[in-house]
Parts: sequence; C-alpha cells; structure tokens
Amino acid sequence: MKHEAIEKNIGLMIPLIIVAISFGALVEIVPLFFQKSVNEPIKGLKPYSALRLEGRDIYVKEGCYTCHSQMIRPFRWETERYGHYSVAGEFIYDHPFQWGSKRTGPDLARVGERYSDDWHRAHLYNPRDVVPESNMPGFPWLFENKIDGDKTARKMEAMRTLGAPYTDEDIANAKQAVDGKTEIDALVAYLQGLGTLLKQKR
Ligand code: HEC
Repeated sequence: MKHEAIEKNIGLMIPLIIVAISFGALVEIVPLFFQKSVNEPIKGLKPYSALRLEGRDIYVKEGCYTCHSQMIRPFRWETERYGHYSVAGEFIYDHPFQWGSKRTGPDLARVGERYSDDWHRAHLYNPRDVVPESNMPGFPWLFENKIDGDKTARKMEAMRTLGAPYTDEDIANAKQAVDGKTEIDALVAYLQGLGTLLKQKR
C-alpha cells in the first residue's frame, strides 16, 4: 500500500530514486578512501625527478595520451602482453594520471626499460626507421627544443601541495637538473621509468 503511494506520486518518487542511487554510489566509493591499496604508494615509489616531471609534461603537451593508454587491466590477454596489471598505488604522484582507454598504439604503463634510450630516440624522431609498419607520427622538434628550467621548481612546488614528497633540496636543485637538456632527453627519461617497480616475467 505504501509503495503504491510512492509510485503514484512522481514528486516523491524522483527524490527517493535519487536517494537510492546515491546510496549505491556511496557504498562503492566511500570505502576506497580508507583502503590502503588505493591510497598508499607501492613500495619504492618516488615522485618524478625534475627531468622526468618535465618529460611527463611533454608527453601531455604532445598528446601521446590520445593514442596510448597507461593502464594494464587485470586480464590474461593484457598481462601476457604488457606485464603485471596496473595498481592504484603506482599513480599516487601522477597529477593528472595518464590512464586513458584509447589504444591506437600499445599501452605504455610498463614500457620503461623495455627498449634502449637510443631505440626511443630513433623511434620518436621517425617511428618508421625502427618499426616500418608504424603509423605513429614523428616528433623531430623534440631534439631541438630546450627545457625551460625556470618553471621546473614551481611545477615541483605545485606537485608538493598535491602530496608529492619533494624535499626543499630537490626543489632548489630543479633548475640545475634540467639545465641544457632537450625535450627528447626529458621525454625518454620519463618513458624509461614507467612501470618499472612492478615487473613480472613476460
Ligand atoms: C597517432 C597515434 C600516436 C601518437 C599521437 C603517438 N603514438 Fe606512440 N605509437 C603509436 C603506434 C600505432 C605504435 C605502434 C607502432 C610503433 O611501435 O611505432 C606506437 C608505439 C609507441 C611506442 C613503443 C611501444 C611498445 O611497447 O613497443 C612508444 C614508446 C611510443 N609509441 C611512445 C609515444 C610517445 C612518447 C608519444 C608522444 C610524443 C607517442 N607515442 C604518440 C601511435 C601513436
């Protein structure tokens, strides 16, 4: 009987539907705030070095994420190909994270140390020089553009306010660490560290 009253009164039914759905969402979301495996860094995780942080910005600036995801899902066909599935604790210092779902190219979550620096440089200059069938664009300008180290320290400070544990010394040495480096140096340093903490035999 009571239910009939609700079903016949749309003004009452709408708020009650909203309450029911929000409750479902709360039950899913709230426990995550207290779960160690999603809000604590995995063992050995460090915030990005000054050079890698700059490399990460180049990754974002050049739109690499429009073709590459950085999240290996826990499925056999993904772990066989890419290695250990991604876990939340790997991305604690990523602001914003680069997970994505668009895979025109392969997932890059564990590309670190898979190739040599020289391979990456050749590949990013002109992918077809090393992978003849590749349709990835070349990024030759990265070899000429220098990193503007004036902003590096401020970027690290911003990351610190978001929780990355940089020391004052890290920040003071930031400009020096990227001085004279080109964008390709920074991008390759960034790629070479991706996903290296959680390796499993592939
Ligand atoms: C238009 C889509 C596209 C964009 C944009 C793109 N890539 Fe790719 N990428 C691909 C494709 C397709 C492949 C596979 C063929 C190859 O290896 O070149 C690939 C392969 C790679 C590989 C080798 C991965 C592996 O496991 O073999 C790396 C590393 C890579 N890309 C890095 C980058 C970076 C860094 C950027 C941004 C500067 C970028 N890509 C931008 C499409 C893209």
